[in-house]
Amino acid sequence: MTRAKILGTGRGLPERVVTNDDLAEFLDTSDTWIRERTGICQRRIAAKETLLELCEEAARQAMDQSGVEAGELDMIIAATLTADHPLPNLSSSLQRVLGADNAVCFDLSAACSGFIFALTTAQMYIQSGHAKKVLVLGGEILSKIMDWTDRSTCILFGDGAGAAVVGVSENEEGILAADLGSNGKKGGVLSLPGRPVENPFRPAEKGPEKCYVHMEGQEVFKFAVSQVPASIRKLLEESGKSIDDVDCFVLHQANLRIIRSAAKRLKAPEEKFFINMERYGNTSAASVPIALDEGIRSGRIKKGDLIVLSGFGGGLTWGSMLVQM
Ligand code: UT7
Repeated sequence: MTRAKILGTGRGLPERVVTNDDLAEFLDTSDTWIRERTGICQRRIAAKETLLELCEEAARQAMDQSGVEAGELDMIIAATLTADHPLPNLSSSLQRVLGADNAVCFDLSAACSGFIFALTTAQMYIQSGHAKKVLVLGGEILSKIMDWTDRSTCILFGDGAGAAVVGVSENEEGILAADLGSNGKKGGVLSLPGRPVENPFRPAEKGPEKCYVHMEGQEVFKFAVSQVPASIRKLLEESGKSIDDVDCFVLHQANLRIIRSAAKRLKAPEEKFFINMERYGNTSAASVPIALDEGIRSGRIKKGDLIVLSGFGGGLTWGSMLVQM
């Protein structure tokens, strides 16, 4: 069976660093509270960049590393919930700026699991022979959907983008398995209202003036600490692998306490978990590819390593993936 393989990765981050102390200047919070409850020390906020610019940077790095030219891409899948505009879609805008004229382009929405869902989609197209080289992105400018007066949410999130070029594996390396899931019944614990319907045949409804993320933090926390280890355990069991076989776990960077809890429940050493949330906060769909790229470029993730990628969040959705690098 044809196997899909990650050929290169990249990341694009806004220049502006916002520390916890910066937030404490206008919010009733403190550096100590944020560090102790989340592990986050600072985040990047798009003070001037567009999401397209962040994604273009990530894509160009991933293409450079993989040696894949824009014209060779036959598909671009962008996972996001904060595209600069609904039309044209982010992936088609990327096609334009990259000159990837032969690519089929579509966006995908699965919140913080988006990159894993997009990577799985790319894998399916490659496995079935319908695509050979796919650019996969996870990118967000979450700062535009935050209520900056709500200290329980806005302190968690950051902006950024991550990318991977996926191609056909010539050997045993590549994406070995994936486990995806959704629980729409619990969707209300992490939500973002949309524009109310208003047309000549329907009177305007009174909707929110501005649309911000609403999160029941503890509910999301409980979901994450039970679902993430369960998904990873299932993935490993079905692949005939054990925790000991895994060299590095790259989890969605939502909260250090969630990662520590997952490590404990999986009986895996914490040192095996890649962590960079202290610098970027939670960047939703971008967090796994940004962490993967940092892991690879820093030498922490090496050729031949067996790694687990795992995302979880709004929907509720979750997804884990086993990759032989
Ligand atoms: O991508 C997936 C999306 N999200 C997540 O994964 C988030 C999952 N949840 C969490 O990470 C945590 O629930 C939070 C970090 C959001 C909150 O931590 P917590 O330990 O669950 O705190 P809490 O909501 O129980 O709040 C404890 C106290 C409250 O005060 P009282 O009622 O005890 O007086 C809050 O008002 O902390 C207060 N608080 C804050 N204090 C200072 C909430 N936010 C802040 C803040 N600074 N930023």
